[in-house]
Amino acid sequence: MSVLEQFARFNRSTTSIQRRFSLLFSLAFFLFSSVFIAGFAWFKYENEGARKMERFNDFVTAQSNVLADSLWHLDHDRLDVILKAIVAEQGIVGATVTDEFGATLAFAEDGENPDGSAQISVMRDIAIAATPGEKPAVIGKLNVTYTNVELIDELRRSTILEMGFAAVLLLGGLGIAGFVNRRTIVTPIRNLAAAVNNPRRGHERVRVDWEAKDEIGTLIEAFNRMQEIEQLGEAKLTEARDRLEERVRERTAELAKAVEDAEQANRTKSDFLASMSHELRTPLNAISGISEMLMVVDSLRTDQAKLIEYLGDIRFSSQHLNSLVDDVLDLAKIEAGHLELEPEIFLIAPVAGDVVKSLMVTAERQSTTVKTEIGDTALAVFADKRAFRQILLNLVNNAIRHGGRNLLVTLSAHLTADGEKVRFTVEDNGQGMPEEMIRAIGQPFIHSHTPYIRSAATEDTQGTGLGLSIVTELLKASEGALEVNSEIGKGTTISFTLPVTPKVTDRQTTLN
Ligand SMILES: Nc1ncnc2c1ncn2[C@@H]1O[C@H](COP(=O)(O)OP(=O)(O)O)[C@@H](O)[C@H]1O
Ligand SMILES: [Mg+2]
Repeated sequence: MSVLEQFARFNRSTTSIQRRFSLLFSLAFFLFSSVFIAGFAWFKYENEGARKMERFNDFVTAQSNVLADSLWHLDHDRLDVILKAIVAEQGIVGATVTDEFGATLAFAEDGENPDGSAQISVMRDIAIAATPGEKPAVIGKLNVTYTNVELIDELRRSTILEMGFAAVLLLGGLGIAGFVNRRTIVTPIRNLAAAVNNPRRGHERVRVDWEAKDEIGTLIEAFNRMQEIEQLGEAKLTEARDRLEERVRERTAELAKAVEDAEQANRTKSDFLASMSHELRTPLNAISGISEMLMVVDSLRTDQAKLIEYLGDIRFSSQHLNSLVDDVLDLAKIEAGHLELEPEIFLIAPVAGDVVKSLMVTAERQSTTVKTEIGDTALAVFADKRAFRQILLNLVNNAIRHGGRNLLVTLSAHLTADGEKVRFTVEDNGQGMPEEMIRAIGQPFIHSHTPYIRSAATEDTQGTGLGLSIVTELLKASEGALEVNSEIGKGTTISFTLPVTPKVTDRQTTLN
């Protein structure tokens, strides 16, 4: 396995920065301290050895001088004593004295020194001058053997001590470095990892609380900035979503209302069609029934009086049919928005007069008096004249025909307090309208009794049940509304208002 592969494996197996750091730190410290201690030991060995060697050389030189005299006299006893004294010196394992030709004359050994390893031998000539002042002549040699085992032992001991000290230092250094490493690298990275794994608390984006000017500090600052941006984006998103939800709710409600309105309109239309077909069928049945009877029953044709009566019934039915069709067409036109109102300012008095005059015959037949009360003959309104006439005609006609006999019907018109509108009131002292009738005003074909009956009093149709619907629609188009006050047995008061002049916006549009 190559070194690189081994390193890769080491990298993979050591998943914690703290552990890897400790391992690398220990390794580096171990290498460093080993080199240092070995270098120191070597240095000491060299230094101490050299010093010892020097001392040893001096010592041997000195001893060779001491020995010279004894050797000259060949005093063996003295030689032995001196050699023994030499050997007794620390580190010296053996000493030998030879003559100038190398033959041993005396020797001593240090029995305590076990082996002969690491031994250094020093040879010195032993010289003596025959007479003082003469050049000394070599008479023999001193050979001393020295061992530095003790120095090595001492070095070993001190190296072991240093190693122990280095181990203590390593542990201390490891502790401090590990602490610093944990505080500056491991803890912030763990905090950052926790924040990345759980980036939000509730709706808030989490920040990592860490400030340092190193790379990790920069990384955490960038992360916090990213969180802030995310937070802003999320807030905007939430706001947009809320707005959207609100809009969807509004739109859904509008849609539901539109659907409801459409359904209601559809129901109204179906009801209208059902009612209309019923209303049309009644006079049609009468017409076809009576005419068939006249054709089949011979005796009816011979009785002149009866014949006239039946023909009268046919005419009555066709007239009713006619007014029914007219009213339905009017109503349809108004509802479809095809009725083109042409508002103008006109005087009320002449129109009201016309209406009352046209109903005079009917009123007289009922012995009913119709009174007109117009506050000011110069009173004018801004409205469609034809529609206005139709409204008045319907209301006064209703009062005359539905109220009863011998009534007083009053049509009045007065300026409202603010002077911007004219209030019209049609009042009668007739039979009044029931509650349900009042509530149903505006719905077509609503009447308190069967409309298709021939009134004995007026010899007229009782109406189509569409008059008030037409009035309501016409007033809606003129932005007015009917106000109905009616009490059974006491009478009915129906009123509405119309503007005196065009609205400011209308005037502006004409000006533009
Ligand atoms: N002044 C009134 N007094 C009593 N009943 C009235 C009066 N005006 C209207 N009504 C009632 O309201 C119903 C609806 O009137 P309207 O829509 O004009 O239809 P029509 O006159 O064709 O019957 C009438 O059939 C009648 O029963
Ligand atoms: Mg009517």
